[in-house]
Amino acid sequence: MCGIVGYVGEKNAQDFLISGLKRLEYRGYDSSGIVTLDKNGKTTCLKSKGKIAGLEAKISKNKRSDSIGIGHTRWATHGEPSERNAHPHRSGKIYLVHNGIIENYKVLKTKLEKFHKFTSDTDSEVLTALIDHFYLDGEYPLTNAVVQALKLIHGTYGIAVVSELNPNEIVVARSGSPLVIGIGHGETLIASDASALIGHTRKAIYLNDGEVATITAKSVEIKTLDSQPVSAKVETIKTDLTAIQKGGYDHFLLKEIMEQPTSLTETLRGRIDLNEKTVHLGGPNLSEKELKAIKHVIIVGCGTAYNAGLLASYYIEQFTNDITIEPVMASEYRYRHAHVPDHSVALIVSQSGETADTLACLRDLKSQGVKTIGIVNAIGSTIAREVDGGTYIHVGPEISVASTKAFTSQAVAMIMFGLTIAEAKGIKNSFIAPYVDDIAKLPNEIDNLLQSLQETIKTLAEQYKKYDHAIYLGRDVAYPTALEGALKLKEISYIDANAYPTGELKHGPLALIDDRFFEFILLPEDGLYDKSISGVQEVLARGGHIIVVTDSTDFSLPVENTVFITTKLKLLTPILMNLVSQLFAYYITTAKGLNVDQPRNLAKSVTVE
Ligand code: M6R
Repeated sequence: MCGIVGYVGEKNAQDFLISGLKRLEYRGYDSSGIVTLDKNGKTTCLKSKGKIAGLEAKISKNKRSDSIGIGHTRWATHGEPSERNAHPHRSGKIYLVHNGIIENYKVLKTKLEKFHKFTSDTDSEVLTALIDHFYLDGEYPLTNAVVQALKLIHGTYGIAVVSELNPNEIVVARSGSPLVIGIGHGETLIASDASALIGHTRKAIYLNDGEVATITAKSVEIKTLDSQPVSAKVETIKTDLTAIQKGGYDHFLLKEIMEQPTSLTETLRGRIDLNEKTVHLGGPNLSEKELKAIKHVIIVGCGTAYNAGLLASYYIEQFTNDITIEPVMASEYRYRHAHVPDHSVALIVSQSGETADTLACLRDLKSQGVKTIGIVNAIGSTIAREVDGGTYIHVGPEISVASTKAFTSQAVAMIMFGLTIAEAKGIKNSFIAPYVDDIAKLPNEIDNLLQSLQETIKTLAEQYKKYDHAIYLGRDVAYPTALEGALKLKEISYIDANAYPTGELKHGPLALIDDRFFEFILLPEDGLYDKSISGVQEVLARGGHIIVVTDSTDFSLPVENTVFITTKLKLLTPILMNLVSQLFAYYITTAKGLNVDQPRNLAKSVTVE
């Protein structure tokens, strides 16, 4: 949600800023801008509405050799996407880029209007004017002015600020929006996401909430807002350049779908013992005794992460009748007055590890004394750092806004956590073993499915791209899978897709069936297969345009299309079915000629409420 970059050193700042912004474009892409300063503090500020390519074109006509600057790619919160609202914002001699939301901006704006003529609709310009107000045209050090201003702010921020009066220094601060400082040779880089730093340096300092850093080419000085010095921990960025490139695919989304055999293998590495038929998750940091004592598991996530949690909950509750599972949407849960039973643990699920709603729940649950366990992808992210323990899913950077490989690995990691509890509670190994076997087979099964069905699904997508509405149906574990399929389709193809439990059809959704809709029905050959068949019949009888996805070789109803899945899995087939949904959403979107990786109105990492 918005991307920030900054550079101070000896090289060309514009070059790093534009390459960094391109890497962060997935975080927000409605407008962008940079400001660079020459040695005398003369500024060049360039902004553009729309994709970074527009800004790049402007820069190529305004090349500068300046070696300090800051940049921003925006996902609009306050004010429409436009050049006027694009960052950097200016007040007097300072420029600012901001990620987050200033909640009390209205009150502050009214007070500052006497001193500053506002030219944008943003909350960020208010913060710029406030810092400028304390800066007193350079009478006061910039860092102090930033601190004074931040003490009056309610909300979230990751910011970078420069001044024409000191073209050697960038001041950055964070509260609720990530900021990473990259340490190079004679240069210092900043970014809201370490991916912008890859290829420039591997040494990084992750700023914590409430910290402010004064940065020059050769120094980084960090303090808290209360002026307490902070000794920074320099960490190593392990990701390689290849992980953030398309690697021959047309889109990141297809790359990430096709990567799943390997990304899931990474999730499982060292965590499955096929001889003993057990799982070993070290990260949660729970002793045998603590695992045994668990009575209630809350699973917190948003969007795809929630769907993965819901899916895992259907499995975990099968493992032992000694615990209850409560999957919750973080955006709702954070404002509920939910009673947390004794002996609860919370799984905090997030690909990015930065989702504001999920983070708020984590902090709230921790403050109630609940043990929190992260199911996170982004290493070093805020959630990963704040949980009591956790299991990284290790799927590598997920760049396409639509989450795919993270879903599969989140679901499997949580199922493994459930098995870990079951083992500790003394559930017989003969019960656990088939799940362990299925998990171990999954990467290979995913590979087979992706190889064998890609062309079939591409053809199917051509047939259904004309529809404006879709209904996804599934029962039991296939219901969360249907939810995830519908989310994927709607967010990238803009087809209005909703999911229902197949058994709920007759309670309302059946009224929708007409020629404007198609129905995507997940039909695993499980204990509810015959009952689900009735659901298919009900839609068929009303003239539905049905696609059935099934692993049953018996299925023979005269629906429009059937996708047969050949698999050796006994228990985890719905996870495989989700890959069909992923490919289907991808191919419909490409067939419609839409932007697959950066769908309209969305951003990858939702760090605002
Ligand atoms: O980074 P997170 O996993 O916390 O993100 C949660 C959701 O914002 C995310 O899954 C979103 O729903 C995706 N765009 C879905 O594809």
